[in-house]
Amino acid sequence: MRDAAPQTIHLKDYTPFGFLVDKVALSFRLDPQATRVLSRIAFRPNPEAADRRFFLHGEGLKLIEARIDGEKINPEISETGLEAAVPERPFIWEAEVEIAPAANTALEGLYLSNGMYCTQCEAEGFRKITFYPDRPDVMAPFDVRIEGDQPVLLSNGNPGASGAGFAEWSDPWPKPSYLFALVAGDLVAHPDRFVTRSGREVALNVWVRPEDADKCAFAMESLKKAMRWDEEKYGREYDLDVFNIVAVDDFNMGAMENKGLNIFNASAVLASPETATDANFERIEGIIAHEYFHNWTGNRITCRDWFQLCLKEGLTVFRDSQFTADQRSAAVKRIRDVTLLRARQFREDAGPLAHPVRPESFVEINNFYTATVYEKGAELVGMLRRLVGDEAYARALDLYFTRHDGQAVTIEDWLKAFEDVTGRDLTQFKRWYSDAGTPRLRVSEDWQDGRYTLSFEQFTPPTPGQDEKPPRVIPIAVGLLGPNGDEVRRTQILEMTEEKQSFTFEGLAARPVPSILRDFSAPVILERESGNAERAFLLAHDTDPFNRWQAGRDLARAALLAMLRTGAAPDPAYLDAIRMLARDEALDPAFRALALDLPGEEELAQALFDAGEIPDPQAIWEALERFRQTRAEAMADLARALYDAHQVTAPFAPNAAQSGARSLANAALAMITRLDGGALARRQYDSADNMTLQLGAFSCLLRTDRAGAATRAFYDQWRDERLVIDKWFTMQIVNARPEDAAGRARELAAHPDFTLKTPNRFRAVFGALSANQAGFHHASGKGYALLADWLIRLDPLNPQTAARMCSAFETWRRLDPSRQKLIKAQLERMLAVPGLSRDMTEMLTRIRAA
Ligand code: PHE
Ligand code: ZN
Repeated sequence: MRDAAPQTIHLKDYTPFGFLVDKVALSFRLDPQATRVLSRIAFRPNPEAADRRFFLHGEGLKLIEARIDGEKINPEISETGLEAAVPERPFIWEAEVEIAPAANTALEGLYLSNGMYCTQCEAEGFRKITFYPDRPDVMAPFDVRIEGDQPVLLSNGNPGASGAGFAEWSDPWPKPSYLFALVAGDLVAHPDRFVTRSGREVALNVWVRPEDADKCAFAMESLKKAMRWDEEKYGREYDLDVFNIVAVDDFNMGAMENKGLNIFNASAVLASPETATDANFERIEGIIAHEYFHNWTGNRITCRDWFQLCLKEGLTVFRDSQFTADQRSAAVKRIRDVTLLRARQFREDAGPLAHPVRPESFVEINNFYTATVYEKGAELVGMLRRLVGDEAYARALDLYFTRHDGQAVTIEDWLKAFEDVTGRDLTQFKRWYSDAGTPRLRVSEDWQDGRYTLSFEQFTPPTPGQDEKPPRVIPIAVGLLGPNGDEVRRTQILEMTEEKQSFTFEGLAARPVPSILRDFSAPVILERESGNAERAFLLAHDTDPFNRWQAGRDLARAALLAMLRTGAAPDPAYLDAIRMLARDEALDPAFRALALDLPGEEELAQALFDAGEIPDPQAIWEALERFRQTRAEAMADLARALYDAHQVTAPFAPNAAQSGARSLANAALAMITRLDGGALARRQYDSADNMTLQLGAFSCLLRTDRAGAATRAFYDQWRDERLVIDKWFTMQIVNARPEDAAGRARELAAHPDFTLKTPNRFRAVFGALSANQAGFHHASGKGYALLADWLIRLDPLNPQTAARMCSAFETWRRLDPSRQKLIKAQLERMLAVPGLSRDMTEMLTRIRAA
């Protein structure tokens, strides 16, 4: 039995639940095939609700017995829950249900991962554990008793009684069911402690399988930094006696902020220098902080309904970005965030899956954990901060925390805190939450008698279900440079509110060069005619690091587009400028490494499409290859000098300085490998004592005729380290030539280490295939067919992960008729699968409707 006719849920239909919950007591008797869950829940009528229908969500539960005030009842049970007649006064609901964690491959609800019990309840997984009003606006304190023979038994809140075969936990803070968690297994703790600024002592633990005990230290250090940072920057203290983090191998997402018991994908916790790259370390630090920050932005203050998801996610992503910027380099973090935003969110916003940051309807909420909700949601917080200023932002956040602590709230409540603090009307700003699509910002300029005028015009293309989009308020950060490269006007925020608007700067001695959208002050696409001379000028002189990087990016992009359009050779203007930048020892190596990155295939494809052309993924790949080859030749001596100058001799540390040096050295190595056939890469591979250098060398070797030997050596060395083996799968596919990518993915899916049960492994192969754009979009259609085959196989086991990966097809309308036809056929084939999940059905239907 699979899902019946899927229903669309609308924001406008929100009504509060008819009852309040004063207390939840749960008791678990763990068993792989037949876990018993007893619930005892104190309900009382909700004076604020009109509708007193007593409906409890429940899916896949075997009801053993239900009682109201001790009286056995026989409720109506459907596929989605049960309904019962209840008294018009406070009452006690009790139920005993049976569930089978061992059979749960969807990784939602209670499941087993490597013999360890764990839960995932966001968004709507608690209903797979017991009958409950499984919605975020129903908040209650939970007491939990776990009976099982595992040595470690964990749940939310503070520990209570425990003994042989049982443990009790009590969480005093009212919470929605999506924050419930339970873990039981043979785990070891990496312990530490933290004293909050008001003197409360908190016991911290990172729980892992015994063989991973040596990979917890970095996560623990990150946690303590995050706790201190939230006190210092947001005045937020932790509020329980313990904080537990558990690493699990089988997990659909990065991690989950369950109250006092965060559950993490092992890839977002475990790290050692030998097995984790610098990028892995940075990601772990960021995710640990993100989940910790949710304790206030998400848990203490939660979402009224799932349409408000960006309320917690956008804000928490914004906070974790600030944290990373403070720990590492603000410029580097901003560049990375914007690169990701453009590659994922702009792409989403330009295609059939485009939706507002606060969607108005959904079929399956799991399909809305998107780049738009998370990353664009975070940009909206950043824009608000820019518009009101840092000091008002801090006061608005304080007001938000005090006013709404313990509540389930909306975007309206969030914005009201800003309005009340600043006296500002945010009606127009709110469009950013309701209107999908990325605004284009066209710029023109005028220079007359010492007056310099910048004129802007905004336009947002239509998105599914939204044609007309009124103008939005856009904070445009602008600075001006004089002809000698000095900054003649410091950054100021131009606040654009009209469709067309001009801003004039007076009293300038000479025509300035503008630096527009500094620090990427708004998530828009800037359209401006500017020549290479100006780009090179900004690359050399801009004081805003983001725009400095952007100038280099624009140069590279113009060069690549010219190659694609006219078959031109790689532009020497780019090569000159980038050579200068690369050797500028005053610049952070991490920044220089980022400046050496080229615009990705996605960015180039979308740029061509926006200009009315049909992008050819193969041609884009070839242009990039030719560009890289020419650049490697033009920079041969410099690459070697950079490589030598950025060898780290100090003992490994995963900090910004060392990681910057390694990334620049690896970028240089990639250039050198194009000329030396892999000789230096082989040397680096053999002498590497950390994964950043080993993997950097490995990916170089994969493009040489040493690939076979390196692939075997890497596997033999790391066969017992599952997170490293994920990299081994991925690297072979992302580095494959377009014509080989699908074949390589097919072979690797037949490897004995491949499994459908672990999302990390599935993504290591098929996420890599869709990341290899030219390979995935190979004209034969073999990439499309292969991905469709495997999504069909994954769907019955894990619909969430299968559905999320359908987005590989989202750009199909951008392609030529022949590729469109091939993709359409795969969309139809998947949609015709009997019993296809609601998750996949919704995604594929939306994509097909493009
Ligand atoms: N709420 C989690 C986070 O962003 C993400 C998540 C969503 C995890 C749904 C699991 C399931 O921190
Ligand atoms: Zn989150």
